[in-house]
Amino acid sequence: MAALPYIVGNWKMNGTRAMLNEARAIDRSAARFPKVQVGIAPPATLLYRVRDAVEVIGVGGQDCHARDNGAFTGDVSAVMLKDAGADFTIVGHSERREYNRETDEHVKAKAEAALSAGLAVILCVGETEAQRDAGDAEAVVAAQLQGSCPGTDGAADKLSVAYEPVWAIGTGRVPSVADVAAMHKSIRAQLVAIYGSAGADVRILYGGSVKADNASELLAIPDVGGALVGGASLTAESFLAIVGAAASLGAD
Ligand code: PGA
Repeated sequence: MAALPYIVGNWKMNGTRAMLNEARAIDRSAARFPKVQVGIAPPATLLYRVRDAVEVIGVGGQDCHARDNGAFTGDVSAVMLKDAGADFTIVGHSERREYNRETDEHVKAKAEAALSAGLAVILCVGETEAQRDAGDAEAVVAAQLQGSCPGTDGAADKLSVAYEPVWAIGTGRVPSVADVAAMHKSIRAQLVAIYGSAGADVRILYGGSVKADNASELLAIPDVGGALVGGASLTAESFLAIVGAAASLGAD
């Protein structure tokens, strides 16, 4: 049976307690769309409060440290995210790869720490514009997957991959349907090469400027199993339009 479409909001470094009302509104409306799996990743400071405020949606972290605890000032471990009520965490987002110099090796260790803490993982990959222009997009993403997919036993069962072209994040630009389709096909082949038949069921999300007006087209592409949404997840209204688009595709 095909997995439910998965729509995840990544709030990034946005949100104070005033945003709890948006989380509640997202949760109430998500309850009307049982055929869509919905999650939000608020900043770590809000995780516990969001967990308490919602009933049906998943709640996640945006990153985790690879170690469970220790002298790592300012970091948050997967064990701590789990303790605060998280169901999942994002790892390897391009903003962390770029601004925090995270390598595939770091991302893999974080994903493995998250799995061993009992969290599901959304692992982000994606090429820069220069890499796409050079014709290297699929090779770059394949190398990221080879280097950062967790090797934990049973990892594929709790893993989603988010394909997020760096040049599409927060820019309003999205790749063509053909380019998304080709990339998701290539990611699927990599996942099967890494995990065997379990790799066939890993959900592959698209992320990068997903909005209400392009969500239906993107979500209808073969092997697009959902969306990782940044800017448009910050208000219940814009995020729910995307959840609604996923629900109406499922109704076909
Ligand atoms: P965006 O961000 O939807 O604002 O482009 C997506 C992401 O970075 O996950």
